[in-house]
Order: sequence, then structure tokens, then C-alpha cells
Amino acid sequence: MARALIVSANGAQNYQECQSQGKRSIVTFSHPFDDTSVKASLTAGIQSIRFLRMSETSMTAWPGVDRFAPREPMPKEQAEPLSREIANLKRSLNAVILAHNYQVPEIQDVADYVGDSLGLAQQAALTQAEVIVFCGVHFMAETAKILNPNKIVVLPDKDAGCSLEESCPAGQLAALQRTNPNFWTVAYINCSAAVKELSDVICTSGNAVKIVEAAPRDKDLLFVPDENLGEWVMEQTGRPMTLWRGNCYVHVEFQRDVLAQMKAKYPQAKVVVHPESTREVRQLADSVCSTEKMIAYCKSSPAKQFIIVTESGIVHRMQKECPGKEFLCPPVFNAMRAPADPCHCSECKFMKMNTLEKVRDCMKNLAPRLELPQQTINRARLPITRMLEISAR
Ligand code: 13P
Ligand code: SF4
Repeated sequence: MARALIVSANGAQNYQECQSQGKRSIVTFSHPFDDTSVKASLTAGIQSIRFLRMSETSMTAWPGVDRFAPREPMPKEQAEPLSREIANLKRSLNAVILAHNYQVPEIQDVADYVGDSLGLAQQAALTQAEVIVFCGVHFMAETAKILNPNKIVVLPDKDAGCSLEESCPAGQLAALQRTNPNFWTVAYINCSAAVKELSDVICTSGNAVKIVEAAPRDKDLLFVPDENLGEWVMEQTGRPMTLWRGNCYVHVEFQRDVLAQMKAKYPQAKVVVHPESTREVRQLADSVCSTEKMIAYCKSSPAKQFIIVTESGIVHRMQKECPGKEFLCPPVFNAMRAPADPCHCSECKFMKMNTLEKVRDCMKNLAPRLELPQQTINRARLPITRMLEISAR
């Protein structure tokens, strides 16, 4: 097995194990990496480079695919004993289970609260429980810890990261901030605690427009790390911002032409898009919003069919809360997969690292546990509480 750096046409990048001739290789599509300095930084430390043409990639495995079926829940006979164990542990620990809308169905079903990043941060700020079991990705559990420094916060898999968080190292942000003392830094919650420490205010996809509208008028806004969300917020607010060049590796893989084909095939369907998607995809939407607002939109809309342009785990809640309605998942380009893997589902591999067994185990062992230096907690709490206060207005 060798490591490959796979770079999509949209610029999302990721390392992956893959078969090759025993040396590390890089697999890329030439557009938009004609810039030699970008290429040099991407290829640093890579021993051997192999460029693939589009025709050599899994793109060729597409014909006839206009949608894919979202993941099935774990079989009942497997899920039920685990769920019972988790319920008992929850009582004995005085724990609360918070889960993001992208978690696997069986985790959503044992959670006390399932929601978007904003709802989860609000729940974490309010909880009376002694232990928080956070089923999402690492930065979300970190936020819960920052809001609850004296509580135990555990997470099923400590390696559940986020491509947005990875794209914005705190040192690089600090260097950019030094170039303009008038910057006011708005950080999307999908970032590390160290980036939160450097930020003036945090936002989520559910409140980003409100947060940016509330930002001081005399400041130069710097939005990190999601360039697509930032661009959408600029469109909504009319406020210019300097955008960090980060993106979500799942959402940038949705393709406008695939979505257009699905719209043509299902003309009655409403298209609901997460703002981490690219502008050309957002332009085809009936609604652009956070995952929680997507669910609310599908509930209140008289439409019976919806094309869901986000991570497919959300469909579990939609099916539960909108009986009689149909949710269609468009396939993604999926440059992140090894070329031989034909899967085109829109799953976030980080969100899917959590399993029901790992939820049980983290409660049993009270580990992995989220710990942060007190100084980080103190500094990062300010922009988070500022967000919660603006959001509640
Ligand atoms: P939401 O806050 O809209 O749920 O988004 C979180 C996320 O990670 C999207 O990829
Ligand atoms: Fe991060 Fe994208 Fe996964 Fe959300 S879906 S956690 S933004 S990588």
C-alpha cells in the first residue's frame, strides 16, 4: 500500500492509501493546479508522482447513476442490545448524548439531541449532565468542552477530523492576521480550538449571515476557513470579506451537471443545498441552508420530493420526520476515493468513523476524552459565547 495525494478538480485534497508501485504517488487532475507554486507545495515530500487523466479515474464508473441509496441502519438484532447498554450507561453516568445530523442512523436513534452545529453548541451550553458524549467530529466535541470545562466530554473516535479544520493551521492564520491589524476574524465553527482562540467571533452555517451582519462596520472582515460558505455569506450580506481558501471535501464534490440532470428527471423535486457547496451548485437550489434548516424546509414544504445536496446521513432524520416524502441523494464526483472504488455516495468519512460500538465503549471507558489547556479554553470561549449571544438576539 502506498499513500496518494488525491486532488479534485475543485481543489479539495486528501491523502489516501492506494495501490501503486510501492512508492508514494500523487494523483491529480491538472485543472486548476497549473500554478507551479501550488503544485510544489502539494508535492513536497512525495517521492513519486503519477498524474491520472479523468478517463482513468472512477468517473468512468458513472453511466446510469442518477442517485444513490443512503446507508441502511444497523440490523435491529445488532443495534438493540448495544442501545440498551448505552441507555444504562447514560443513566449511571448522568450523561447526555449529542449527535450531529450526519451520524449513522443507529447513533441518531440513541441520542438525546440530534442537530446541526449551532443546535449542538446551544445544547452543550445548556446541559446539566455530568458527562457529554459527543457524536460528531473533533471540533464539535472541542466546542462542547470549551463551553463545559469542568465536565467530562468523550467522543467515540478521537480521529474524526474535518477537511475544513485541517485546511487552516493556526500559525498560518496568525501570519495572515499580522498583515492587517484591522482584520475582524469570523471563524466558521469547523476549525480547531487554536483557530477559535485567534478569532473575534465564531459562526455556523445556521447563523453565519446574522453574525456577519452584526460585525463592526469599520473592520475588514476575514472569514475562515470555508471559502464557499464565506462566498455565500458575502452574496447574502453584501459585505466584502477576505476568504481563507479552505473547503469541505464532501460538499465540493457535488457537480452542477449531475444536479441539473436530476432536476430534469425529477422536475417536481425541490433542491436543498448546504452552503459549503460551490456557487455553481448553489445556483440550482430552491433553498440554501444549514442541515437543521434543511430538515425544517422539507417538513414545511408542500413538495413531496427533495434532492438533498449534503452529507447523506441527514436523510435518516428527514425520513423519520417527514413521512410520505421522498429524499433523493445526488452522486458525487468523489475524487477522494481510490480510482478503483466506484462508490459515489456523499458520506463524510470523518462523521462515519463513529459507530454504535464506539459510543458504548467511550461511555464504558470514559475515553477517548477531550482535554484542552485552560488558556485555550479561556481564549476560545470568548468568540463562541459572542456567537451564542448574537444568535439569540
Ligand atoms: P451544519 O452546522 O449545517 O450541520 O454543518 C456542519 C457540517 O459539518 C457541514 O458539513
Ligand atoms: Fe468537515 Fe465536510 Fe465532514 Fe462537515 S462534511 S465534518 S465540513 S469534512
